[in-house]
Amino acid sequence: MTTKYFVQALEEEFKQQQYGNNPVELYEPIRYLMSLGGKRMRPLMTLMATALFTDDWQKAVKPATAVEVFHNFTLMHDDIMDNAPLRRGKPTVHAKWNNNTAILSGDVMLVQAYELMMYVEDTQLRKALVRFNKTAAEVCEGQQLDMNFETRDNVTEAEYIEMIKLKTSVLLGFALELGGIIGGASEKSCAHLYDMGICIGLGFQLKDDLLDVYGDPEKFGKQVGGDIISNKKTFMLIEAIDKATGQTQQDLNRWLEAKTFDPIEKVNAVRVIYDQLGIRQLAEAKINDYFDKAFDLLNTLKVEEERKATLRAFAEILIDREV
Ligand code: IPE
Ligand code: IPE
Ligand code: MG
Ligand code: MG
Ligand code: MG
Repeated sequence: MTTKYFVQALEEEFKQQQYGNNPVELYEPIRYLMSLGGKRMRPLMTLMATALFTDDWQKAVKPATAVEVFHNFTLMHDDIMDNAPLRRGKPTVHAKWNNNTAILSGDVMLVQAYELMMYVEDTQLRKALVRFNKTAAEVCEGQQLDMNFETRDNVTEAEYIEMIKLKTSVLLGFALELGGIIGGASEKSCAHLYDMGICIGLGFQLKDDLLDVYGDPEKFGKQVGGDIISNKKTFMLIEAIDKATGQTQQDLNRWLEAKTFDPIEKVNAVRVIYDQLGIRQLAEAKINDYFDKAFDLLNTLKVEEERKATLRAFAEILIDREV
């Protein structure tokens, strides 16, 4: 089964989604954000995982949509927390409307994600919900850690990895695991898929952090440099703090401590420091490590080889993504 069919099935499902009408102020931002697209990679991963075990992958379309609606809910709130002006090349919901609107529309999206998740067959529903609940709580834990780290200067790489595992990777792990659950995979295979999703997620968030510094603003669709402006403790900044000495160290500290600054100037200055220290190469090596681990896990998954090709090709595309 090729990706094209999964994409088509999802887009048809997204088109059918109504989200609600009254009051229009509550529901319009949902339609707005969902219509801006995005890669739709989480629901695609769910469908691909289901198709590893059964040809009847269509039964995973609504639960897969649940994962995408949940993801978009986290983005709506994340953009408030990160003070982000742009999402998918367009103004963020809180910028276009206001914070309260983004909070409440996001809240109702979470409920709608649960409604869609209810389409998992009864025999598998409890298991899916138990895992979904755990995942959703962990995403909140990761988001809180991400914010806590902004004002700390001694965040370790291990702490960063744990934080991105929670805020990002567990949802990718769950997306694959859910596909396995719906496809009738064994407990062992579901856990195996989850671990693979975690590895993809770690590589994926590292790449997101890299693109936040080095992305092409035309393609990336988000404000480039946002992480630098808010002192996000990304792998790149943690490495730079660790490696900088002498004048470079003084410059970096000055930018991290500055209370008032020209954002463009700060982003350019910190990028120059990263360039001097070879941080981009370190990040790229780390990204490749995590994707290699993911491919190892796919190789050892007990599924007919022919069925793995779609998921493998999809993961490969994520390594080199620019969006
Ligand atoms: C953005 O996710 C949030 C992160 C976990 C980095 P995506 O990069 O999947 O965003 P869309 O859905 O494609 O816009
Ligand atoms: C987002 O991490 C993770 C979640 C939304 C849970 P980021 O804050 O790096 O995501 P972007 O860069 O805004 O998409
Ligand atoms: Mg964030
Ligand atoms: Mg953000
Ligand atoms: Mg980011």
